[in-house]
Amino acid sequence: MISGSIDVLAVAFAVAAVIVVPVPVAAAAPPPRLDTYLVRMVNRMERKMEFDCDEWPDDFELRANGGDMNVTYETADRPGYDYLTPRVSCIWSYEGNYMSSVMIWDEEKWPEKKACLVGGGRRCELVFENKEEVLVVTTSSPAAPGTGSSRRVLGDLAVKDCSTHWYGHLLPWGAGCTYPSHDHAYAGTVHSTWTAAAMASTIGH
Ligand SMILES: *[C@@H]1O[C@H](CO)[C@@H](O)[C@H](O)[C@H]1NC(C)=O
Repeated sequence: MISGSIDVLAVAFAVAAVIVVPVPVAAAAPPPRLDTYLVRMVNRMERKMEFDCDEWPDDFELRANGGDMNVTYETADRPGYDYLTPRVSCIWSYEGNYMSSVMIWDEEKWPEKKACLVGGGRRCELVFENKEEVLVVTTSSPAAPGTGSSRRVLGDLAVKDCSTHWYGHLLPWGAGCTYPSHDHAYAGTVHSTWTAAAMASTIGH
């Protein structure tokens, strides 16, 4: 009688195990693979520029006339999986000109994102030239030159012009400087000092 009950229980547990066990196994899929994106940043302007970013790659500078840096970002491009580095916002400084909220990577908003994927046959360059921040995508495949290439101005760089007036050098330094007219919205929020840019960036502007 007693042993009969134990057998029934054992069978019940065995059946339960058969039913229940496959469920957690199916749910425990391997974690999503991280995708690696590469953006080559290039400064084609005449003076060095400095960046102070809220995330990787943190603080760095790009030399004048071609200084570059290859920056990689790791993200998991899967629904329901948090982005590791969705966007990177920086303080940009160049020759006494400052902007906060200059984006150097935006996984959520850049349509070019896929082209920056390492091993995807295309390349992404973030070029600073002619007072513009430009995202350039090129195809490295010689079989299909030009395929998928694009060039998009992300924004203008606020660079004061101090030589517009003949009387400029009669004034105290900086007094004769103005921001020239420009075609696109600025790539960030313009500030007169680094400190002001740093304060704005801590409160998210
Ligand atoms: C970045 O990568 C490009 C292309 O591979 C290379 O030519 C360049 O020297 C690299 N720059 C740095 C600073 O490593």
